[in-house]
Amino acid sequence: PVPAEASSEEEHNVLVSALPSKLVPGTQLKLRCYQGFWLPERFVPAAVGLQRRFAPRRDDVIIASLPKCGTTWLNALAFATMARRSYYPGGGSDHPLLRLTPHQCVPFLDALFAGGREAQLEVIPSPRLMYTHMPLSMLPVHRGGYRVVYICREPKDMAVSLWHFRRSAHPELSFADTVESVFSGGNTYGPFWDHILGYWRASQSVLFLRYEELLRDPAENVRKLARFVGLPFSEAEEEAGVVGGIVELCSLESLRSLEVNKRGYMDGLNFPRKALFRKGVPGDWVNHMAPEMACRMDEIVGDKFSGSGLSF
Ligand code: A3P
Repeated sequence: PVPAEASSEEEHNVLVSALPSKLVPGTQLKLRCYQGFWLPERFVPAAVGLQRRFAPRRDDVIIASLPKCGTTWLNALAFATMARRSYYPGGGSDHPLLRLTPHQCVPFLDALFAGGREAQLEVIPSPRLMYTHMPLSMLPVHRGGYRVVYICREPKDMAVSLWHFRRSAHPELSFADTVESVFSGGNTYGPFWDHILGYWRASQSVLFLRYEELLRDPAENVRKLARFVGLPFSEAEEEAGVVGGIVELCSLESLRSLEVNKRGYMDGLNFPRKALFRKGVPGDWVNHMAPEMACRMDEIVGDKFSGSGLSF
């Protein structure tokens, strides 16, 4: 349940400081355990705000994920798909994805609500596209009707990707500590199994995607996404190669080669933008984990997802 009224900033601070806390290993990022999930401390008020004040519209589309599971890619694909009638993919140099990072094209609910800037959402015309890393339980499900697209990824690859990403700001970060923190459930937005299972169990109303499937057949997944958000591709669009144009525009090679994604830092963070675009392959864990470590992690995953119908 949402805690008793805590409207003022002071009350919020009291609420946050009473929650269990820990630091992400090798960083100064403090996490707080709120309703069973380890959220970055500054996002706890965002979780409360989302639960209480977020007023979704019926045609809203929310991309949800754990960090390092393909959020940037899915944001780009969903934006290009939903904006295709205003911005033809492959139709010249005016496409926003050529000038802005994918994250700048899609508002981040967690940061908007944490910064008291959620009113910015009200002026966005429908259908709105937004993204979050929050678990489903932090979204106002009872005020439902909006569409959620979730992306998950093989957990060992997620952990490897996370280590590389964090290392771009913390070069000394230990690989073993990062993996341990992910698989003990205490990592950012974790436990990852509860995050994934929350969306998985709602998958009758959530479009549940997997990063590996997106890599295998991006075009088919873009079609699925377009149907789900109520904007299926017409025959004319198919014939004109619009799906291929979107896939090409959002490919790792294409995004990575753009000046906007090569230089500078992520908004409000000390991670270089280029750290978002690394290798983009399935199974990179074999290049990082000893077989014993991988086996131990697979056991944890097998145990946590047992009986759910979902496996990695
Ligand atoms: P790797 O570190 O394994 O390469 P997120 O966007 O959720 O932070 O996820 C980052 C992961 O997605 C990174 O994985 C990154 O390389 C990969 N990625 C980013 N853009 C991509 C794209 N356009 N196509 C495929 N993978 C992409």
